[in-house]
Amino acid sequence: MLTGKKIVLGITGSIAAYKAAYLCRALIKKGAEVQVVITPAGKEFITPVTLSALTQKPVVSEFFTANDGSWHSHVDLGLWADLMLIVPATASTIGKMANGIADNMLVTTYLSMKAPVFVAPAMDLDMYAHPSTQQNLEKLKSFGNQIIEPTVGPLASNLEGKGRMEEPDRIVEVLEAFFEKKGELISKKILITAGPTYEKIDPVRYISNYSSGKMGFALAEECASRGADVFLISGPVQLQTVHPHIQRINVESAEEMYRAALDYFPKMDLAILCAAVADYKPVHCAERKIKREAGENLTLELVPNPDIAAALGNNKTDRQRVVGFALETDDEIAHASEKLQKKKLDFIVLNSLREPGAGFQGDTNKITIINSKGMIKNFPLKSKKAVAADIMDTLRNEGYAY
Ligand code: CTP
Repeated sequence: MLTGKKIVLGITGSIAAYKAAYLCRALIKKGAEVQVVITPAGKEFITPVTLSALTQKPVVSEFFTANDGSWHSHVDLGLWADLMLIVPATASTIGKMANGIADNMLVTTYLSMKAPVFVAPAMDLDMYAHPSTQQNLEKLKSFGNQIIEPTVGPLASNLEGKGRMEEPDRIVEVLEAFFEKKGELISKKILITAGPTYEKIDPVRYISNYSSGKMGFALAEECASRGADVFLISGPVQLQTVHPHIQRINVESAEEMYRAALDYFPKMDLAILCAAVADYKPVHCAERKIKREAGENLTLELVPNPDIAAALGNNKTDRQRVVGFALETDDEIAHASEKLQKKKLDFIVLNSLREPGAGFQGDTNKITIINSKGMIKNFPLKSKKAVAADIMDTLRNEGYAY
């Protein structure tokens, strides 16, 4: 998986920098070409001589080489690389990356980087836990960078906690998995619905639900990172997409979502219906704001919205697959299995509101995947990003959509 891959390895000033030498060797053994870019502080922890001997390339650290004035182009490095890896990443470098403080060769290279970026933080537990570091890491994630989480263990400070850099062998595994999955959905077109819908009552009010859209957006990023062209039909949410291969179609009501989904579906290989579509809408949307009549009840008459999942399930061809979600509060497996059949889905992803950490708004989810062949697979509580990867891995492993 790493053969011929061009990797820019950024090294910063942490005691864990000594592990970068081992990482260099492991990447090169796997066939990668490694170009080291090191910060001035990084050189205090590991010598460029060691790194250039391992990589067989001069280490880049300054903008110019002092003896002959030759210019090191961060722009060229940004175009050359298949991937940039920052190992170890200190709180300071993470802060500079998050805020565009390009005062060294490593951060300028990062800002010019066209390839995916992976960051493995290494620091003391209190520095890692500090809201400043956490906010900067969140910012990097929002730029589409992958954070290789530090582990819990003994630290250089003699304290114990979260902040220990992930081991080089594990980092190599993460990169191998990344390159393995990167191309698996190339030329596939995937439709994803996400978020809630708004059903208007009058010009200032609507009926909706608590859906944040996070699960659907995580799926969109996951599919795009595996090479798919993603068409994300989203209800009103406060989220942004990162990957350039996600085309976002914003809608408000279930009716609009239904029309957009039916429009796009004929060209799709797979549809994943993650949206929490409002099942009903008011018969009429009042033209003017409905006034409060003191002491009187207000009755709204609601009519059913179209069922997008059922429409796509009924329209799908032999080469198309449809995946639905089911959020249940009781008798979960039975209700989800019934929806799978009724809507002619290939897969249904069940989450139960009874499970702590599952469902709306949060960053985690706990799912069970049921397929039309009778498979029932339970997964532990994970981040929505990891859940998205599990869903796509299960589809592949079960022979769907590939
Ligand atoms: N769904 C849809 N269009 C609708 C309602 C639901 O596409 N009008 C999709 C959801 O995106 C989800 C699946 O159908 O993938 C199941 O949604 P859910 O709300 O759990 O099921 P409903 O059929 O609405 O049943 P109920 O609300 O009664 O549980």
